[in-house]
Amino acid sequence: MNAQDPGGARSGDARLGEGPQGGLPAPAGAQLPLQAAGARSALPVERLVAAGQGFTQPQYTDNFYEAVGGHATFVKLVDAFYDGVAGDDVLRPMYPEEDLGPAKERLLLFLEQYWGGPKTYGEQRGHPRLRMRHMPFRVGPQARDHWLQHMRAAVDTLGLAPLHEATLWDYLDRAAHSMVNAAD
Ligand code: HEM
Repeated sequence: MNAQDPGGARSGDARLGEGPQGGLPAPAGAQLPLQAAGARSALPVERLVAAGQGFTQPQYTDNFYEAVGGHATFVKLVDAFYDGVAGDDVLRPMYPEEDLGPAKERLLLFLEQYWGGPKTYGEQRGHPRLRMRHMPFRVGPQARDHWLQHMRAAVDTLGLAPLHEATLWDYLDRAAHSMVNAAD
């Protein structure tokens, strides 16, 4: 990973800009029910077959976007985040447009694409190249910390499972740190 380019403009640094590679790992013991040599599935094969569930897929998904609630969850996240930005004396003046709606939409589409949802961001905006796209703005440690403060509050409104919350926050925290392009 190249922490200098969260937009993933160069090969090998897609972690921050293009989505988690391969999604979350399957949980231990999540093999298909009939692959039960080690009898590690939640139910023994005999009981699954007896219940007519022999080919039921295990209840997990490796798509983070779906796992956390899809579109509604990401809309809630960016709505809460931009509520914070709207009242922030450091961040609000940085946004060139009077209406924060279009900027909110761009962040929504980017995050949805990054986490495995629709690829609308790329269709509309091309390659993220986020660090490059932030160059016109002076992003110092103070702006970063305000950004993270509002994003932390927004993540807290979601009520995610601890692993999902930690995964999402880890990314946002690292991405924000890598976006800094100026001293205060
Ligand atoms: C570290 C503090 C940050 C500040 C102060 C900041 C500020 C800004 C500003 C002023 C814009 C222009 C608004 C617009 O789109 O018209 C922008 C755009 C954007 N920001 Fe940030 N940002 C920060 C971090 C991040 C992070 C961590 C991400 C991603 C995880 C992100 C994602 C985006 C996206 C997707 C856009 C729109 C890019 C486009 O033009 O397509 N930003 N940001």
